[in-house]
Amino acid sequence: MEKQLQIKSLHLESPLILAPLAGYTDLAFRLLCRQFGAGLCYTEMISCHGLVYQKEKTQLLTRTVPEERPVALQLFGADPIIMGEAAALVSDMPVDIIDINMGCPVRKVTKKGAGAALMKDAYLAATIISEVCNNTNLPVTVKIRTGWNHDSIVAPDFAKMAEDNGASAIAVHGRTWSQGFVGQVDWQTIARVKNNVAIPVIGNGDVNTYQEALQFMDNTGCDGIMIGRAALGNPWVFSPEGIPTSLAKRMAGLKRHLELIQEFSNTDKILPKIKNQAGRYFKGIAGGSTIRMQIYQAGSFDEIQKLTQSL
Ligand SMILES: Cc1cc2nc3c(=O)[nH]c(=O)nc-3n(C[C@H](O)[C@H](O)[C@H](O)COP(=O)(O)O)c2cc1C
Repeated sequence: MEKQLQIKSLHLESPLILAPLAGYTDLAFRLLCRQFGAGLCYTEMISCHGLVYQKEKTQLLTRTVPEERPVALQLFGADPIIMGEAAALVSDMPVDIIDINMGCPVRKVTKKGAGAALMKDAYLAATIISEVCNNTNLPVTVKIRTGWNHDSIVAPDFAKMAEDNGASAIAVHGRTWSQGFVGQVDWQTIARVKNNVAIPVIGNGDVNTYQEALQFMDNTGCDGIMIGRAALGNPWVFSPEGIPTSLAKRMAGLKRHLELIQEFSNTDKILPKIKNQAGRYFKGIAGGSTIRMQIYQAGSFDEIQKLTQSL
């Protein structure tokens, strides 16, 4: 791929990036996506309060290994001081980028003024961005939406504000807060964001293949693409060849994913989550529904792993 993406001094091997997905972009999945060609992977959103107050569950989310780098750690919160303190803590961790979540529409997050709610309060958002930047030497990226609803498409100005306060790149999910995760992705606004800032812009929303990612970049002028849902059960999305049509190759992908899960997770504790991920490898393929059924009926991690060895 010709397009080069550089975020401050960090040069990425590919401009295709794994988006933050709560409950999915854990260490095993990030490593898998890096091995399949993603240039950078984002952790799921991590609470600044959880970090600063040393909550065990939160700390588990920050685990990284050298082989997965570069990795971006995403913070969420609405308190500038705590966000700054969290940024200082993250700066001592082996990560390459701090991202600030200003796009999450989930009520649990927005009711506290964090996530997409920050797009309604540019002053607070600016304070948070500058506080985070003042507490780290790492590049800081900000993930936003196009606006809060159809009548308030604020992303171009908001992105400029983020740049002026120290952000090194902006990721834009091409939907408004009120759209959630449905409706047309607005490439035009992403192109306007790109024209309004000098820092790299990463487009995001509904990209299902490598080729669609190239088209998104061509049409908007953006410098990179974040892929979220399409990567689930499909780490091949980061490569030009795309998802294999043979059952054996899909099995091989799942086998690799399971090996990483076994290495980095407590497999007994997260069996339903593993089944959810594993089943996705067999979408739209002959014989896939039988295997999915076997996965959902499996009583243990070992049973799922044995399935991948049976072909
Ligand atoms: C299950 C799920 C979890 C998500 N978690 C996060 C998150 O932690 N932080 C964030 O900024 N966005 C999160 N998102 C939004 C995605 O990063 C992305 O912006 C969105 O899904 C659109 O991209 P896609 O069409 O490629 O999935 C989440 C989306 C989904 C579906």
